[in-house]
Amino acid sequence: MTPAITAQTLKQMKARGERFSCLTAYDASFAQQIAAAGIEVQLVGDSLGMVIQGKESTLPVSMDEMIYHSRAVRRASGSSLVMVDMPFMSCITPEQALENAGRLMKEGGAHMVKVEGGHTMLEAVRLLSAHGVPVCSHLGLLPQSVYKLGGYKVQGRDEAAADRILADAIALEAAGADILLLECVPAALAKKITAAITLPVIGIGAGVECDGQVLVVYDMLGITPGKRPKFSKNFLLDARDIPEALHNYAKAVKSATFPTEQQSF
Ligand code: KIV
Repeated sequence: MTPAITAQTLKQMKARGERFSCLTAYDASFAQQIAAAGIEVQLVGDSLGMVIQGKESTLPVSMDEMIYHSRAVRRASGSSLVMVDMPFMSCITPEQALENAGRLMKEGGAHMVKVEGGHTMLEAVRLLSAHGVPVCSHLGLLPQSVYKLGGYKVQGRDEAAADRILADAIALEAAGADILLLECVPAALAKKITAAITLPVIGIGAGVECDGQVLVVYDMLGITPGKRPKFSKNFLLDARDIPEALHNYAKAVKSATFPTEQQSF
C-alpha cells in the first residue's frame, strides 16, 4: 500500500510553509498511536540499539534487526511515511548501499531509507535515487560516527564546519536525496540550510526554523534513562496519557512552539 504521506507530500508542505512532525517508532503499538496522532513520518531509527537493546551506541545494530523492527512498525503505521535507518557499515560502497536499501524496502517494507553522511555518500545517494529508492540524508551530528567525533556534540559551530555542512546539503539535493535530517547544529545554520534547498528539512536539536521536527519517542515520553537531551521535551508531563502527549507534540511542531530557544543551540 502506498503511504498517504510521501516525499512529494512533504515537499508540498514545505512549499506551503506547513510544518510536519516525525517520531521514532520501533514496534506496532507505538506505530499505531503515532499514526493516530497525525504524525506524518515515523522513523525506525537505529537508536533502537540504545533505547530498545540497551547498548552503548547505535553501532552494533544489524540489517536483520532493522528489518525486524521495520516490519513491526509497518503493520500499524497507517498513513505515516515509514523511514528506516541504514545501520552502521551498511553503505560502504554504493552497490552495498543499494543492496541493503533493497532489503529494507522489500523485506522490511520501508518507504524511505535514511543514510548518515554528506560528501562521502553522494555516489550512494545517486545510485539509490536512480533505482527509485527515496532517501533521507542525515547531516550534522552523525551518531554512527560518535567515536570519531569524540561524543554526542553539536556540529557546525565554526564557520568552516558550517560551510561544509551547507555544501553537503546542496550536493545531496543535487545527487537526488528527497529529505534532509539535521541533527544538533546551531539554529542559525539550520535556518540557512532550510532556506537554501528545496528539500524538506527535519531537525533534531536544530532549532525551530526547520520544515519539520523529529524526536526519539522515548525521550519525549520521559522514559529514556539518564539525562534528557537539552533539545528534547517530556510531553507526557502536561498530558493525561500517551495519545494526548503525541497529539500535543504534533500540535507544537505545527504551530512552531516546539522547539523553543532554550531547546536549541
Ligand atoms: O536513530 C535515530 O533515532 C535517529 C534520530 C536521532 C534522528 O537517527
